[in-house]
Amino acid sequence: MQRIGIVGIGNISGIYLKNLTGMFKDRVKVTAVTDFIPERADQAAAEYSLKSFRTTEELLNSPDVDIVLNITPPPYHYPVALAAVRAGKHVYNEKPFCVKREEAAEVLKAAAGTVRVGGAPDTFLGAGIQTCRKLLDDGWIGKPVAAAAFMMNHGPEHWHPNPEFFYKNGGGPMFDIGPYYLTALVSLLGPVVRVSGSAKKGFDERTITSEPRKGSVITVDVPTHLGGTLDFSCGAVGTIIMSFDVYAHTLPFIEIYGTEGSLRVPDPNTFGGPVSVSRFRSETWSEVPLLKKYSENSRGLGITDMAEAIGEGRPHRANGDLTSHVLEVMHGLHEASASDQYYPVKSSCDRPAPM
Ligand SMILES: NC(=O)c1ccc[n+]([C@@H]2O[C@H](COP(=O)([O-])OP(=O)(O)OC[C@H]3O[C@@H](n4cnc5c(N)ncnc54)[C@H](O)[C@@H]3O)[C@@H](O)[C@H]2O)c1
Repeated sequence: MQRIGIVGIGNISGIYLKNLTGMFKDRVKVTAVTDFIPERADQAAAEYSLKSFRTTEELLNSPDVDIVLNITPPPYHYPVALAAVRAGKHVYNEKPFCVKREEAAEVLKAAAGTVRVGGAPDTFLGAGIQTCRKLLDDGWIGKPVAAAAFMMNHGPEHWHPNPEFFYKNGGGPMFDIGPYYLTALVSLLGPVVRVSGSAKKGFDERTITSEPRKGSVITVDVPTHLGGTLDFSCGAVGTIIMSFDVYAHTLPFIEIYGTEGSLRVPDPNTFGGPVSVSRFRSETWSEVPLLKKYSENSRGLGITDMAEAIGEGRPHRANGDLTSHVLEVMHGLHEASASDQYYPVKSSCDRPAPM
């Protein structure tokens, strides 16, 4: 059984620790944790009977760690992943995979042929999107001709305890939430070949309203509203909006439009449903029962799949090619806006095998 060492015991670590030592305990084993803030690592270690290391380097040198789960904030995704790979460990990063495309390429190159690289999100492996995948593959809406994807809210500073990084390099709605939407779309429709985009910053400053930093002001360094188009290799044309500048809206999460009908895809930031289909000129939508497992919060499913894939010698689904392709698409959307031109996407990836 593959043994996991976790770097970064912050906000999202709770659900990983709970699921990897609960729901997935017969498939992976968490052995170690580390954090810049030692008390955080010590607390998790005490609660889950793990080894608490003082530094990432010590964790990387541990013979009891096979896979590093890197759940630090985005600027640390690259240095921690590269160090892990160079130490001969498999690595699974939270999203976005890295901040820069060159960083992602370097990690993949360093890992090639020796260790596995994977990355969040893993929500596309859940019951909701896997049910959509089955409906698409079984032809329920015919050939996809178009897709639409919308995520709009007014930012995370009302709930996250330390929301600064959402408005700094590597943050913004596209890099924060875009990975869920784009990974779902790529897993359903295949890779993206060309994008256009228009990115804006709606507010120069954001005031934190969550504890413990209530009242602190964050200077916004990145675009917080992005509208774009996505040309998929399958021929479908996508429309996407990702925004931290919108209070309310009535648009769906994701819809896919085919030659024989339309498919409503659930929130790709969750594992469950609902999924519904409308065929031909029907004016109603029919909800489809979820046909696959994992409808509850199953964070950790992606790294568990990777761990099992290592043992079984098969490709893992939330893999480095997919997550770095999504990273390039996100950059391409911003770059298209900055350059007033379409951005041709250079990378590609296979659709991960259905669950
Ligand atoms: N919070 C969420 O709901 C959520 C959801 C999905 C994904 N994520 C992703 O998870 C990652 C972490 O988010 P978070 O909300 O838990 O952040 P956080 O700021 O709450 O926690 C990050 C932790 O990592 C530690 N850390 C940072 N760099 C380190 C390093 N090099 N070595 C050791 N420890 C280090 C920090 O001390 C902190 O405890 C981000 O990439 C984010 O995009 C978060």
